[in-house]
Amino acid sequence: MYRLGVLLSGRGSNFESILKAIESGYIKNGKIVVVLSNKANARGLEKAKEAHIDALFVNPEGLSRDEYDRKLVEILRSYNVDYVILAGYMRILSDCFIDSFEGKILNIHPALLPSFKGLHAQRQALEAGVRFAGATVHFVTKELDSGPIIIQSVVPVFDNDTEDSLSDRILKSEHKIYPLAVKLLCEDRISLKGNRVLIDGDFLDEGFFAINPVGGGRDGV
Ligand code: GRF
Repeated sequence: MYRLGVLLSGRGSNFESILKAIESGYIKNGKIVVVLSNKANARGLEKAKEAHIDALFVNPEGLSRDEYDRKLVEILRSYNVDYVILAGYMRILSDCFIDSFEGKILNIHPALLPSFKGLHAQRQALEAGVRFAGATVHFVTKELDSGPIIIQSVVPVFDNDTEDSLSDRILKSEHKIYPLAVKLLCEDRISLKGNRVLIDGDFLDEGFFAINPVGGGRDGV
């Protein structure tokens, strides 16, 4: 059973989608053992507590990035965490954190990487006028939003989309691909060949999907 530590800063809907997938048995070999946040009032911390998961606010005040991240590593190690799941964690991780969990950190980004890295990815997509947007689950490396890609979802962009409507559509797809990526990880089905992630076995019928805007409904995520 792999022990998962979650880092989040906000509402925690991705954390919740992974938790539900564990509770339902979709993710079989993983367990969330601790949730950490840099924000005292993160809704995700409350959700974790409601689910009786240890949930801690780790105060960044007065600490350098390295000091703070060393503290996080210490806590995660004390829980014997195997994998770190970033779920809306709004701080850039220091190199020392990434070295401590090398190849063991996952993130979800609301864009089809390598396009639209960084903040406001959905707004960037709208401004660029792309017809398709989406989300990416990837391994975290020292370069921001650049690690090997595990799974991506694709959603259409409509002419009347706003940042909110596009974000909502992408988020619904995030809630499918993040649990799927964690499931594959916990089943030891993910390996790396250079920068490419290889997935063992057939996974296309396990919730992976893409939207065809011609054949599908507008909200059919
Ligand atoms: C998501 O859009 C995710 O892609 C990004 O941050 C947001 C977190 O949302 N990294 P939530 O807190 O999981 O609801």
